[in-house]
Amino acid sequence: MVLWAGRFKKEINQDVNAFNSSISFDARMYKHDIMGSKAHAKMLAKQGIIDEISLYEILKGLNEILLEIDNGTLLFDPNAEDIHMFIESELTKKYPVSGKKLHTARSRNDQVALDLRLYTRDEMNEIKMMLINLINVIISQASNHTTTIMCGYTHMQRAQPITFAHHLMAYAEMFYRDITRINDCFERMNVSPLGSGALATTTYPIDRMFVAKELEMKDITYNSLDGVSDRDYAIEFANDLALIMMHLSRLSEEIILWCSWEFKYIELDDAYATGSSIMPQKKNPDIAELVRGKSARVISHVSSLLTMMKGLPLAYNKDMQEDKEVLFDAIDQVKLCLPVFTDMLKTMKVNSKKMRDYAAKGFINATDCADYLVKQGKAFRDAYKTTGQLVAYCIEHDEVLETLSLDIYQSFDAVFEESIYEAIALETCVKNRQVDGGPSPQAVEKSIILMKEKVKAL
Ligand code: ARG
Repeated sequence: MVLWAGRFKKEINQDVNAFNSSISFDARMYKHDIMGSKAHAKMLAKQGIIDEISLYEILKGLNEILLEIDNGTLLFDPNAEDIHMFIESELTKKYPVSGKKLHTARSRNDQVALDLRLYTRDEMNEIKMMLINLINVIISQASNHTTTIMCGYTHMQRAQPITFAHHLMAYAEMFYRDITRINDCFERMNVSPLGSGALATTTYPIDRMFVAKELEMKDITYNSLDGVSDRDYAIEFANDLALIMMHLSRLSEEIILWCSWEFKYIELDDAYATGSSIMPQKKNPDIAELVRGKSARVISHVSSLLTMMKGLPLAYNKDMQEDKEVLFDAIDQVKLCLPVFTDMLKTMKVNSKKMRDYAAKGFINATDCADYLVKQGKAFRDAYKTTGQLVAYCIEHDEVLETLSLDIYQSFDAVFEESIYEAIALETCVKNRQVDGGPSPQAVEKSIILMKEKVKAL
C-alpha cells in the first residue's frame, strides 16, 4: 500500500503507477534527498517538534540507506512513485515509529524543489571544473601559437591575418563567460524552499533558516507559492548548458573544417578520430561532429522547459515532474562532451606551415595596403579604391600583393615605395595590431595572462 493509503479504497492501477512514477529518473537525487531530510529532521528536533530519539533513529536510518544505495545492497524499487517516497518508506521499514515522523511539516512539493536545487548545485560545480580544464588546454595550445599566422575570416571569406592563438583564445573567452553565467545562476538558486510546504507553509514552528544554513544555502525563499513552483533556476542552468554546447559546436565546426583535406590546418590524434568501414583513407572527426549534433538536443531542452512552465498556474503542478529528464539529459550531454572534447583539443597537432602558406594566398593584407597609402598621405576612401584595383589586377594576372613589382604598384599610385613589401608582410600586419584584444603576439600574450588570472580567481 502506498503512503497515502488512508484516503483510497483501491490500489493504484499498475499502468497508472508506472505512468506516474518518476523513480526511474529522479533516483539520481537520492543523496540530495537524504541530505535535505537530515537537515529537516535536525530542525524538527531543535524546534521540539520531534524528540531526540526520533531524530537519532531518522539520522541513523538515513545514513544506512545512503550507504546501502552506495554499495548496491539497496536497489531502487521501480514501483515506488518517486525517490522521495522510496527513501521515506525504506526509513519507515527500518524505524517504523520514528520514520513516520520525518515528513512532519513538509510536503513533497517543497522537498522536490529543494532536492533539485541541491542536485543542480553539485552538477554546476562539476561542470565548472570541466570548463576550467578546457580553458587551460586552450591556453596551453594558444601559448604555442602566438606567432602562428593564420587567415581570419568574415562571411567565411578570407579577411585579415590573425594568429592561431588569437583564434583559439576567442573560445577561452566564451567558455570563461559560461563559467561566470553558471556562477550567477548559482547565486540566485542557492536558497532553500523547504518550509514552503505543499503551497502555504505550515502551522508548526519551523526554523527555515536553520535548514538553509545546514545545507550551506545562503537564504530561504520568501513566498511559499513561488518556493514550490519556481523552476527558473533549472531553465537558467539549462540555458547556460545550451550556451556551452553552442560554443562547443562552433569550435567543432571549425575543427571539422580544419581537418578536411582542403584545409589540413590540424591533425587529430588517432585516438580521437575514427576510420571508415569502407574507405581506407578516411580519418573522421566524429567527436567534433557528435558534439555539434548533441548541441541540438541540449538547446531544445531549454525550449521544453520553458514550454512546460509557461501555462502553469500557481503553485505545484505535476507537469513539473517533466523538468527532470530534460535538465538531467542537458547535464549528462555536457558532461559527456566536455572531457572528450578537451582531450581531443589537447592532443591535436597544428600544421603551422599550412596555415601560413594559405594565409599568403588570399589578399588578407589588402587593408594594410590601403593603410599604407593613408600613411603616405592619401584619404582612406581613395586608398581603398586603389587597393581594390590592385587586387583586381592581381587576380587577372595570377599574382598576389606580395609578388607584384614596384613598377606595377607605382603605375597605380606614384606614392608606393619599396617599403610597401614590409608593410604588407603578414607578420607586420599581425604585429602592428597591438590594440588590446587584437592578434599581435604581444596583445594575445597579454590576453592569455589575463585569462589565467581570471581562471585562478574563480
Ligand atoms: N515526483 C514529483 C516531481 O518530480 C515530486 C513531487 C510530487 N508532489 C505531489 N504532490 N505529487 O515533481
